[in-house]
Amino acid sequence: VPRVTTKSLQRSRERGEKLTMLTAYDFPTAKLLDEAGIDLLLVGDSLAMVVGGHETTLPVTMDQILYHAEMVGRAAKRAMVVVDLPFPEGQLSINRTLESAARVLKETQCHAVKLEGGAEQAERISALATAGIPVMAHVGLRPQNVHLDGGYRVQRDQQRLVDDALAAEQAGAFCVLIECVPPAIAQAIDQAVAVPTIGIGAGNQTTGQVLVTHDMIGLTTGYTPKFVRQFGNVGEQIRAAATEYRDAVCSGEFPAESESFK
Ligand code: KIV
Ligand code: NA
Repeated sequence: VPRVTTKSLQRSRERGEKLTMLTAYDFPTAKLLDEAGIDLLLVGDSLAMVVGGHETTLPVTMDQILYHAEMVGRAAKRAMVVVDLPFPEGQLSINRTLESAARVLKETQCHAVKLEGGAEQAERISALATAGIPVMAHVGLRPQNVHLDGGYRVQRDQQRLVDDALAAEQAGAFCVLIECVPPAIAQAIDQAVAVPTIGIGAGNQTTGQVLVTHDMIGLTTGYTPKFVRQFGNVGEQIRAAATEYRDAVCSGEFPAESESFK
């Protein structure tokens, strides 16, 4: 199967095809998502929250992201794999960003990085693209700004959001991710740019959609945002399997003779 690339994504958009993206943080899950035909896998800094149990994305480090990116990169045969630049790799000097992003391409089998921000990141996006590193820009709600913004809020400044997406595109971003904006604004962004757009909490008029896999499969505990649809309930299955295992061990029924050596 041919690999999903920046070029094939652009062709998909031009043909009016929808694109799918999910987060992945480990080998077995990434392999399943790739086999299911998901176009893009994201090693998101949501790793800090859904795997690490933190309250925000801020604590995850570049080395931790790289460890997980390695696993996902090894598993994906068809999907293009995008890796988040964790805070503050995309906020320090442009040289620092270049060095960190280059590690993704050099030390893992992943293909691109994602960077939060639009207009104010244009110079940085351009430096990465010039260095041969594909960049997905992330506009709208920016989880790395949670403390500056005083929480996670829906973004409604249409002019600013369109300008951010246009600036990112002009700087060389191959795709724009749009988080938590009303559908009409996401549609305006999608119409303003020529590159594919991927929405989360942004209605169904973007080129593609992304969700955090743990939310989508029912593995997240506690609060889930309004835009999440649970397509599976893996959490219940894990709990049920563990309960059955406990009962079988405690009753002496496991392991059976057939599960023992002669
Ligand atoms: O880290 C992440 O999972 C993300 C998605 C919410 C788009 O950036
Ligand atoms: Na992220």
